[in-house]
Amino acid sequence: MEKNIAVIKGDGIGPEIVTEAMKVLDKVGEKFGHKFNYEQLLMGGCSIDVNGVPLTEETIEKCKASDAVLMGSIGGDTTTSPWYKLPADKRPEAGLLGIRKALGLFANLRPCVLFKQLSGACPLKEEISRKGFDMLIMRELTGGLYFGKRYTEEKNGVMTAVDTLEYNENEIRRIAKKAFDVAMQRRKKVTSVDKANVLDSSRLWRKVVEEVAKDYPEVALEHMLVDNSAMQLVKDPAQFDVMVTENMFGDILSDEASMITGSIGMLASASMNETSFGLYEPSGGSAPDIAGQNKANPIATILSAAMMLRYSFKMEKEADAVENAINSALDAGYRTGDIMSDGMTLVSCSEMGDKIAEFI
Ligand code: IPM
Ligand code: MG
Repeated sequence: MEKNIAVIKGDGIGPEIVTEAMKVLDKVGEKFGHKFNYEQLLMGGCSIDVNGVPLTEETIEKCKASDAVLMGSIGGDTTTSPWYKLPADKRPEAGLLGIRKALGLFANLRPCVLFKQLSGACPLKEEISRKGFDMLIMRELTGGLYFGKRYTEEKNGVMTAVDTLEYNENEIRRIAKKAFDVAMQRRKKVTSVDKANVLDSSRLWRKVVEEVAKDYPEVALEHMLVDNSAMQLVKDPAQFDVMVTENMFGDILSDEASMITGSIGMLASASMNETSFGLYEPSGGSAPDIAGQNKANPIATILSAAMMLRYSFKMEKEADAVENAINSALDAGYRTGDIMSDGMTLVSCSEMGDKIAEFI
């Protein structure tokens, strides 16, 4: 098969980690007889430097015309980078939110798995990490606080800022369906996370999720308040299969979930629309502190590329091959700095990519 991939390397460690994912994809192409064509596009800080804006129509149109988008990370150091002197809607993050919205990527899938080889890097007590865990956070990505009306104004002489959290039933229904569909392919359990003891948007969320659940009698549904969910994630992560939640809660809980896998450098993500089209990116940020040093962990990006093969291209055995190759590299003791432990072999970002490609 021949596939056209739009590539947004982005800022910080983005170019380094995406280069490794492309290396692994090329090896997959060679081995399985596919051709992956890449078109590199600008978004985020690098687009501001060249175009004056974080996201251009050209980037959006070229992404739309592609079979899938592979992305690294965007943004810089928020205290020192000149990008953060710009108004909020001209900063790198506005590009990321803009592309999510423009491509209709409402479903963000973030799988969190504790690789057995990394159980030592898990900050939880051994009695908890021993059980392992394998969950998927289904985060709503184009609604809620991120896209609600916001403004800052002076009210009776007092500076006042407003953000609004709005969801309609259709937005809730489509993400709930995605969560149940994915649960059907997994262990058939959905935990819907909300703050229904306080928020109206959460009460509607709960009602709509319950309606959707009726179409999936095989899936067990539970509701959990977001504060309790944050606690349960570190107390007993093995209890979760699919966790579905709104945008902001999903942002926060997925960082927490990534940390218990050992490193945010291990967490892949897929952002999908109603079809099989998706944008694939690691869940972590641009890590400006280690950018350009060939130190970053490329595994989350390589895992994201595996998700692209599986979800957008329906290349199941190719996706398995990538995941197995990552396991083999970890089994062989190769570790980037973030997941390094005694007795293992410290490798650079590009060496980790080489090793994984070799194991394909
Ligand atoms: C993420 C990131 C983004 C988000 C930022 C960079 C805007 O934290 O993908 O989780 O909050 O969605
Ligand atoms: Mg985040």
